[in-house]
Amino acid sequence: MITTTVEATRQAVAAARAIGKRVGLVPTMGALHAGHLSLIQAARSENDFVVVSIFVNPTQFGPKEDLSRYPRPFERDVELCERECADLIFHPTPEIMYPPSFTTYVEVHELQKVLCGASRPGHFRGVATVVLKLFNVIEPDVAYFGQKDAQQARVLSQMVRDLDVPVALRICPIVREPDGLALSSRNVYLNPAERAGATVLYQSLMRMRQRIDAGERSADVLIAEARQRIDATPGARVDYVAIVDYDRLQPMPRLKGKVLVALAVYFGTTRLIDNVLMDVPAEPEA
Ligand code: PAJ
Repeated sequence: MITTTVEATRQAVAAARAIGKRVGLVPTMGALHAGHLSLIQAARSENDFVVVSIFVNPTQFGPKEDLSRYPRPFERDVELCERECADLIFHPTPEIMYPPSFTTYVEVHELQKVLCGASRPGHFRGVATVVLKLFNVIEPDVAYFGQKDAQQARVLSQMVRDLDVPVALRICPIVREPDGLALSSRNVYLNPAERAGATVLYQSLMRMRQRIDAGERSADVLIAEARQRIDATPGARVDYVAIVDYDRLQPMPRLKGKVLVALAVYFGTTRLIDNVLMDVPAEPEA
């Protein structure tokens, strides 16, 4: 079933709830790929009623970003959702989500302004706002997000905690192409040369992981090496390479504990992100 209005969606979910069904939600912007499908599969395996929302959320795009050209293959998305046995697709219009009178936004301070937030001001405010709206419309027991967008997952878990939103979040592993490139709806923007160069994100992360496993603990050293590798890739331009603690997303000069290694790289106007989460043991003995 496909719904476009808040009322119809509430009714459909209420009917499922009335017969005791546990509700899982997978929020997406469509252009579904195997990464999204892994979230739907996780939701399917843990819930009786699976809702996929497909909404290209204008408030999370900056004025110079790709809102108008963002891919919207809706019929194909519906087919994929049906294949994965989703029960309901919520596909509202921007006017339904943001009527002209709309004035309320959710801000997750501090976490929203670092990493991707630094180059995309307002992005996480848009994400937090739309996701809280989706939670309020659907009232899922569990909602599924990808580790691919590590900062988004962290921002949303903070929002849920701070605002006492009655939902459990599940963060699912990154699905990759055979050569390591993280699946993204934006990969379709890459020309063949850029696509070939785009493996540098994962390669840089794997190299950093090797160096950490071998005992390197200096963030500056690791970041400089990764930047060098990316700068040497034709067409690639570093937005950021960062090593932060996963709780506050603040830089960590010497690595220790739960560490997020994250990067963002431009190919032309296409911005790609990737990350690895590591549990780093204390400094090896000198
Ligand atoms: P979108 O980019 O469509 O992603 C929807 C969900 O799929 C997110 O939780 C994202 O982390 C996850 N995802 C994307 N690529 C993945 C991959 N390669 N492996 C695993 N999971 C992956 O993220 C958004 O939409 C929006 O910000 C949204 C949360 C829907 C709010 O508008």
